[in-house]
Amino acid sequence: MDVSDLVRSVKAVGTVQGLRAVRSAWRRQRTDARELPPRGAERARVPGVLTGVEPRPGGGVVRFARSELQVTVAAGGAVFWGWDGAGPLPSYAIDGDAPEPDARAFLEPDKNGGWRVVSERLTVAVSRHGAVELTTPGGVVLRRELPPRWWEPAGGGQSRWVQRTEVPADARFFGLGGRGAGPRLRDGTYALWNTDPRGGFDRGDDPLYITMPVQLVVADAGTHLAFYDTTWEGKVVLSEGEEGEGSGHDRPGTSEMRMGGGPLRCWVVAGTPARVLQGWTALTGAPALPPSWALGTQHARWGFGSEHEVRRIVAGYRERDLPLSALHLDIDHYDRHQVFTVDRANFPDLPGLAKDLRADGVRLVSIVDPAVRAEAGNAVYDSGVSVDAFVRDARGRPARGVVWPGECVFPDFTAPRVREWWGGLYEERLAQGFSGVWHDMNEPASFAPFGDPTLPRSSRHDLEGRGGDHREAHNVYGLTMARAGYEGLLRLRPDERPFLFSRSGWAGMQRYGGTWSGDVTTGWPGLRASLSLVMGLGLCGVPYSGPDVGGFDGRPSPELYLRWLQLGAYLPLFRTHAAIWAGRREPWEFGPQVLEHARAALEERERLRPYFMTLAQLARLTGAPYVRPLWWGSSADRALRDCEDAFLLGDALLVAPVFERGGDRRAVRLPRGRWYDTVTGQAHEGPGQVLLDAPLSRIPVLARAGSVIPVRGADGGLELEVWAPAAGRTGGGVVVGDAGDGWVTPEVERFTTKLVRGRVVVEQIVDGGAVEPGRPVRVRGI
Ligand code: NOJ
Repeated sequence: MDVSDLVRSVKAVGTVQGLRAVRSAWRRQRTDARELPPRGAERARVPGVLTGVEPRPGGGVVRFARSELQVTVAAGGAVFWGWDGAGPLPSYAIDGDAPEPDARAFLEPDKNGGWRVVSERLTVAVSRHGAVELTTPGGVVLRRELPPRWWEPAGGGQSRWVQRTEVPADARFFGLGGRGAGPRLRDGTYALWNTDPRGGFDRGDDPLYITMPVQLVVADAGTHLAFYDTTWEGKVVLSEGEEGEGSGHDRPGTSEMRMGGGPLRCWVVAGTPARVLQGWTALTGAPALPPSWALGTQHARWGFGSEHEVRRIVAGYRERDLPLSALHLDIDHYDRHQVFTVDRANFPDLPGLAKDLRADGVRLVSIVDPAVRAEAGNAVYDSGVSVDAFVRDARGRPARGVVWPGECVFPDFTAPRVREWWGGLYEERLAQGFSGVWHDMNEPASFAPFGDPTLPRSSRHDLEGRGGDHREAHNVYGLTMARAGYEGLLRLRPDERPFLFSRSGWAGMQRYGGTWSGDVTTGWPGLRASLSLVMGLGLCGVPYSGPDVGGFDGRPSPELYLRWLQLGAYLPLFRTHAAIWAGRREPWEFGPQVLEHARAALEERERLRPYFMTLAQLARLTGAPYVRPLWWGSSADRALRDCEDAFLLGDALLVAPVFERGGDRRAVRLPRGRWYDTVTGQAHEGPGQVLLDAPLSRIPVLARAGSVIPVRGADGGLELEVWAPAAGRTGGGVVVGDAGDGWVTPEVERFTTKLVRGRVVVEQIVDGGAVEPGRPVRVRGI
């Protein structure tokens, strides 16, 4: 530990807490040194030579001298392979049962002495020494897995493994969960271990709260997603390839997975980006649909401190006629920071407050931390002890850590009965009048001025009855807590869609809700990291997220605050937030000019609410994230693959935030087709780059020619904003409304647009033909 770390930790959590944290960090290190001694001698193993095959539905088993490989093509087109007897289950990522094998796919010998399985979208070829190659139906290689290598401890236990992969020289990597330096993942080492970066992170900091062994690879040959289904700690080393400029000597891109244990098994989904995300969410579950209010403006801050302050803020929004959907209460509303309690001195009547705010159209959202203060008399602790809910150390004693309330214990969410118990505790939150929950500190975080700020790796977990230690459970702690919360809310209030977002998580977390940036540093690099996280997570199947507008830990300049707000207004979770020491985030705290421009951003968000609802519904139906990289519909356009400073919001809008101090103009790269500046109406033709005005009052937003965007009209009803198609082209769009915050499946309305003799014609597609749209239409761009 260095002294500055100690000073920082003491500053953040107070002297007594700081000393507790030091003790706890020592304890963690000692425990692991004792319980997880160094691995000692190891034996390396490779599969060896192919010895035979056993056909099975959808593929089969290929046997080697020292391992065996199951290859299965699943109905729907995803490809699975697993070494050493690993099958698709059990898995924390896969939603329910594994998909059925595709009965049409079978093992056949190939001409190189290996075997292959041919399917509609991919051919999987297994070589004589255990390389696995994926090619498109046209015979182009998407991905080549070299034979893996295991290291087995001589004394038994988990094998480490390394899987090296080659991808085409022009390929770009994305994904791996939430990474601040993306969305394009450049050459480097990316850790797979969910980590609290201790009170703030900047663009280059890695890893962060959500890591996933999910990589999305985009190349001329096509797009694919590869998912190594193991929750163990590991690293991915990425290196982009290089093209030999026609010399025929391309250097492929490489990805090397180095895992500390767990099964070596992989899923690959290939196709267009849209098909890949559809296939991925078919496998891991549809994203939870947020209630419609969660698509509006939300305001948070650590340290509102009292009911009086909460009312003052809401009144501030109302007096200035600014839209507000939800207000979030942080740990300061708890009694001495203890989860599922209320500081009654400062919040004497929370249900009453919630009721008043609700009447004013504002919901309350509660932070929920997993750590429970370890003190008899704390009702949650007592009840947890009585059901044996808490993680134990290797010697069977409760594993302790230090979090906001002091010495804490941690529920073991990998046990079904613990999830059920924990989910039941949300009854208290609902009774206090909260409409949603914000899961925090669930990596899980335990304060430590040195070493890894989490539980000892030797701590024991249930792991759905299989038993194991924290090395295996750590990365799914947030995911399983989200499951507990989501299922609990669903049981308690079955008629409403739960609203939950979680700081940590893993592949499949979208089934239970969304996430947010965590403690992104206040500063221009933090603004960029905000977008990187949202885009990267969307490509891993988690479509609902957003940053702390203004950054978490500092006082943003009025300009930075405004630019953050202008970006946030186009992201799914639109929420201001700040640390207790980091000043205010109310739009009126930065002067009259910022207030005026902030109002414009907030009002535009309100106007676009029906579009956000449509995008949320489409995310659930198709897996497509609301926020998409510019290459989403044009992955063959290489220039777009490298473009990280703008994004598509659904199919219709292109948003180009300002990421620089003093910036009032910016270059924007356009995908193919015509794009209209939504403010000036000026048309620009893509592909190519244009220079656009970005005055302080707005960031450039362009609309795709021919698109249909559902917006809120002046009378509050839904109307269609239609952008004229270019001559000779057609367009269209879908609208999915919201039938309240329950479970009614809304209708999907489809529209087409075309230009007939200079006039824009909009039609609604219904059974039996096309009719006049049943909604008011406003044509723009003509
Ligand atoms: C850490 C979270 O990331 C942050 O959003 C929150 O304000 C603090 N914990 C305090 O609860």
